[in-house]
Amino acid sequence: MLEFPKDFAWGAATSGPQSEGNFHKPNQNVFDYWFEKNPEEFYDGVGPDTASNFYNDYRKDIPLMASAGIKALRTSIQWTRLIKNLDTGEVDPDGVTFYNNVINCLIENGITPYINLFHFDLPIKLYQEYGGWQSKHVTDLFADYAAQCFELFGDRVKNWFTFNEPKVILDGEYLYQFHYPLLVDGPAAVQVAYNLNLASAKAISKFKIWKKENNSNATIGTILNLTPAYPATNDPEDVKAATFATMWDDNMFLDPAVLGHFPAYLEKILTDAGVIWESTPEELQIIKDNTVDVLGVNFYHPERVQRPSVSAKSLQDWMPDIYFDNYEMPGRVMNVDKGWEIYPETLYDIAVNIRDNYGNIPWFVSENGMGVSREERFMKDGEIQDDYRIKFIKDHLIELHKGIEAGSNCHGYFVWTAIDCWSWKNAYRNRYGLIRDDIHTQNKALKKSGHWYAKISSDNGFEI
Ligand code: NOJ
Repeated sequence: MLEFPKDFAWGAATSGPQSEGNFHKPNQNVFDYWFEKNPEEFYDGVGPDTASNFYNDYRKDIPLMASAGIKALRTSIQWTRLIKNLDTGEVDPDGVTFYNNVINCLIENGITPYINLFHFDLPIKLYQEYGGWQSKHVTDLFADYAAQCFELFGDRVKNWFTFNEPKVILDGEYLYQFHYPLLVDGPAAVQVAYNLNLASAKAISKFKIWKKENNSNATIGTILNLTPAYPATNDPEDVKAATFATMWDDNMFLDPAVLGHFPAYLEKILTDAGVIWESTPEELQIIKDNTVDVLGVNFYHPERVQRPSVSAKSLQDWMPDIYFDNYEMPGRVMNVDKGWEIYPETLYDIAVNIRDNYGNIPWFVSENGMGVSREERFMKDGEIQDDYRIKFIKDHLIELHKGIEAGSNCHGYFVWTAIDCWSWKNAYRNRYGLIRDDIHTQNKALKKSGHWYAKISSDNGFEI
């Protein structure tokens, strides 16, 4: 029996924009706007307007989640639902009522709310009027919005997070064109990375004030997708490329969030290449003073990296020469629908890295899961027989457990996701849920993995 620590959180994660649907929202986010303009760019032309209908169904969905053993749910508040006037911060009464109801309903069903404040869903107006995350003004607006959330919901929410996967924001919006505004602008991406770190720190500084005034024991963290890079060979050029890949993809957010400063190695490379961000001593002090209490790690796959080839440089010609190529590990099992390597061992490496290099800060797996397309093909007797998902989760939990045994301070595991949900440009292409959603009828039912998760959650572990 593989037993997890007492009070280990058996959770699942989702987000507002991927589950709620756009009912009664006073503002549009970048995805709403993009979908309205170019629906054909989304898989099967399906947009965020209904998603998994959580706005209307939460009273049914939440008990269903509880029946799948989910004892903690990470979801996000949508800035565009809660705030009516994005400049003054005037709240939308419907939005306040909705999030109050959701939080209360979670608690009534024995599910601890973990609330995240930003999940890729920038209000379009803030992009159009101020340039989005390129603007430092937007970092202040974000901190004000965060403060409103603490004030409104902080009497019941004890686990707060500023951002989900900030690296994906610059990758999608400023480098690889999979999120609106679909730009390729390296120097802008670098500035956005800095501004996102700054915005998170500013929100944490508001949190500290709120916490003191309210004598609260709540914590705040951030959620990072970590993709540690392994070099192709021991050749110093490959090792150098892998080091840079980890710095650029992980440490650019991990170090400021947990240690309060950017990695000197990365700063030097970006400075030498003439693409370093614009910063001020006051801002760097804010980042230094406002590190996180807890870290969420979204883990799906590692990176395999080798020295840059000519093609990689021409793709990103603003990048320093040290830029890297990704390659596929021959013979590795891939998550076929995503093309992501399945390599659970990395979760152990992450656990040990946090233990050794990040002060053994409390952390949890804030996302891990398997996306599968056309999952109906695995339907038998009215239930999705997703043994592949059970194996995927189990293999990752085994590695996580090893990390915990080695002393890493991990206190929970959150599957992505509870109920099949809308996944940005990929819409419903890949299903990840423990619970199936028939998007035509909005009928929802546990998959085999949902029953299995209920068991491991109640046993606090499983037989291996
Ligand atoms: C990471 C993101 O946080 C989430 O929004 C996304 O749907 C999942 N991974 C699956 O790709």
